[in-house]
Amino acid sequence: MKADIERILIARGAISDRVRTLGEAISQSLEELDKEEEIVLVAVMTGALIFVADLMRYLPMKIRIQLMTASSYVGKSTKSNNDLTLGKLPDVTGRHVLLVDDILDSGKTLTRIRRELEELDPKSIQSCVLLRKKLESAMDVPCEHIGFEIEDEFVVGYGLDYDGYYRNYPDIGVINP
Ligand code: IMP
Ligand code: MG
Repeated sequence: MKADIERILIARGAISDRVRTLGEAISQSLEELDKEEEIVLVAVMTGALIFVADLMRYLPMKIRIQLMTASSYVGKSTKSNNDLTLGKLPDVTGRHVLLVDDILDSGKTLTRIRRELEELDPKSIQSCVLLRKKLESAMDVPCEHIGFEIEDEFVVGYGLDYDGYYRNYPDIGVINP
């Protein structure tokens, strides 16, 4: 697995430091919003798997975790195709939502999920991604919490995959498929 990684972009230590500060910032912003109500944390699978597991341990308020699936990559591709498939939407009506995904690339996934969740009339929605690519399309998507800005390169590890592999790689690395 290691041999396929061209170089490490963000090492595990830097990831965990940032996840902690991100968690603290999110907690503060959710508390300012509402001290009483619980939060529904909607995690987009499978890319956000590791990120959300780490992040939620820095969120001390009452939260429920809801997983939802989204897939836009088919097989050995580093470009998302247009047929985004979403799984069942969680029940967010009348609740505060924190939407968590791994990466903002074209922005199609987060835009579509947020729009569909908004149609369910939640009390509020904030989005959080670990990574955002420096692309105009990604910058245009409303996203309140961002871990790292990265160049437009295909990355794997810490939950992100190529063709289903490398999610278990502990750092974030650039791969040259
Ligand atoms: P978007 O809809 O183009 O923003 O793509 C979002 C989804 O594509 C993310 O949730 C990831 O699962 C996947 N993706 C986008 N860029 C990368 C990458 O560099 N590595 C791995 N997966 C990626
Ligand atoms: Mg994904």
